[in-house]
Amino acid sequence: MKELSLHILDIVQNSIKANASLVELTIVENSAENILSIEIKDNGCGMDEETVKNVVNPFFTTRTTRKVGLGLPLLQESALRCNGTFNIKSEKGVGTTVYCSFERNNIDRAPLGDIASTIMTIVNSLENCEFIFKHIVNKKDYEFSTTKIKEILDEDNLKSTDILLWIKEYIEESTKELYNI
Ligand SMILES: Nc1ncnc2c1ncn2[C@@H]1O[C@H](COP(=O)(O)OP(=O)(O)OP(=O)(O)O)[C@@H](O)[C@H]1O
Ligand SMILES: [Mg+2]
Repeated sequence: MKELSLHILDIVQNSIKANASLVELTIVENSAENILSIEIKDNGCGMDEETVKNVVNPFFTTRTTRKVGLGLPLLQESALRCNGTFNIKSEKGVGTTVYCSFERNNIDRAPLGDIASTIMTIVNSLENCEFIFKHIVNKKDYEFSTTKIKEILDEDNLKSTDILLWIKEYIEESTKELYNI
């Protein structure tokens, strides 16, 4: 995939489909360690051991509309191609954590892409689910939480166009600050 944010969208959609009530996305970028890592943690239905083993096989899916599931195998492939790591931890009834890392300066590493639009799209697809996004760049960090935004705006529904656009701009500004732009 051209952008890591597209992978992120895909993996977060898995968590939403797994009926999670909380999904946490953490992106860590560290220049000294030359690492970019992505963690997506949910408290959804989880998977049994057999499913976890099969899940990075592109011919495995519990979808009924299509025979192959590509989200996880593609992310694994991208990470390993960049001298990175890939790991899934999951427990039935407890939840799932997908973790992957990339060599940050690897020539094959896709750019993060449009994180602000991705978060906006994620917020728009949440159903009875809270979402926390943490972005850490070297020593600076930033956190976005749907629970906190709801409190600040005193509004339970974040899916109106005005609010979604506000969220997108807010994340764009915060990301610029993280990168000192
Ligand atoms: N967070 C999760 N919680 C529970 N099950 C999951 C989770 N992520 C993946 N799975 C299981 O692993 C399977 C494979 O996931 P994957 O994203 O690779 O493909 P898919 O979601 O089936 O299809 P696609 O992502 O291509 O639309 C899913 O069908 C689902 O059964
Ligand atoms: Mg999927």
